[in-house]
Amino acid sequence: MPERAEIFEVGPRDGLQNEARMIATSDKVALIDHLARAGFARIEVASFVSPKWVPQMADGADVLAGITRMDGVSYAALTPNMRGYAGALAAKASEIAIFASASEGFSKANLNATIEESLARFAEVAEAARADGMPMRAYVSCVTQCPFDGETAPAQVARLVAALRDMGAYEVSLGDTLGHAWPAQVDAMLEAVLQELPAAQLAGHFHDTAGRALENVDVALARGLRVFDGAVGGLGGCPYAPGAAGNVATEALDAHLRKRGFETGLDTEILAQAADMARRLREG
Ligand code: HMG
Ligand code: MG
Repeated sequence: MPERAEIFEVGPRDGLQNEARMIATSDKVALIDHLARAGFARIEVASFVSPKWVPQMADGADVLAGITRMDGVSYAALTPNMRGYAGALAAKASEIAIFASASEGFSKANLNATIEESLARFAEVAEAARADGMPMRAYVSCVTQCPFDGETAPAQVARLVAALRDMGAYEVSLGDTLGHAWPAQVDAMLEAVLQELPAAQLAGHFHDTAGRALENVDVALARGLRVFDGAVGGLGGCPYAPGAAGNVATEALDAHLRKRGFETGLDTEILAQAADMARRLREG
C-alpha cells in the first residue's frame, strides 16, 4: 500500500487574495466546488480579514453561502481577530486558521501588530474556537526569511510553533511566504520545530518564487511531514510580501508526490480542469 500524503488546497484563499482584478463570487464558488470534486479533504476558501486590507476576500460569507458542501470536505477560513472569527462562525466555516509571523517586519505589515500583540489576539480566537468546538489550524509565516527583516532564526519559528500549539492548533503550517527558501534552511528550521511538535501535526506551505518549492517539499518529506499546502494553477502570492509569487501549484505537487510513491487521493483529471479554471480567473 502506498503511503498517504495530503495536499491542503489553499488556492481559493492564498491564490486569489493577491489578484488585483475583482473576481466574481460565482467564479470563486465554481472553482471551490470543482476542487471539492477533485477529492480534497480540506480547502481554504475565504478569509475574514479587513476588506480595506484585502478587498478580494471581502465576499467570504457569500462564498461560503454559495458553495455546495460535500461530505468529508472541510471548508477553512482565515481569522485574524475576534471580528473575523465571528464572521467565519456565522458563515459556517468548517474550520478556522490563525496566522502569526516569525518575523516582526512581516507581522507589522500583514497584521498591523507586533508578534506578541498578534498572539494575544489569536489567544482570544483560540479560546472561542475551543468553546465552540471549532477546529483551528495555524500558520507561521516567514519561517526561513522575511521580506523586511532578512533571515529568520529557526529557534524563533520553534517558539511560535510552540505558542500556537499551546493555543490548541491541531496543525501548524510552516510558511515560506517569500518563496526563496533553500532546502538547507528548511531542514534547519524543521530540526528546531520538530522539538516542539511532531511531524504529524505540521504542514509545509511553500511559495514557489525561486522555483525550489518541490525541493523543499522533499526535505520536509524526509523529516516526516505528510501535509503540504498547494494552490491550484500556482495562483497567488501575499499582498504584504512584496515580490512573493504563488504557492507551489497543486497539480505539480500532486505529480511530484505520486512520483515519490505517495498516494494523494486526488483525481488528476478533475484537478487539471480546476487548474484551467484557476488560470482563466487569473487571465480575466
Ligand atoms: P487594523 O487596521 O490594525 O485593525 O488591521 P483595526 O482593528 O484598527 O480595524 C481597522 C478597520 O478594519 C476597522 O474598520 C475594523 O472594523 C475593520 P473601520 O472602522 O476603519 O471602518 N476590521 C475588520 N473588518 C472585517 N473583518 C475583520 C476586521 N478586523 C478589523 N476581521 C487587521 C488589523 C488584522 C484587521 C488587518 O491587518 C488585516 O485584515 N490583516 C489581514 C491581512 C491578510 O489577510 N493578509 C493575507 C493573509 S496571510 C498570508 O497570506 C500568509 C499565509 O498564506 C502563510 C504564508 O504564506 O506565510 C497564511
Ligand atoms: Mg501563503
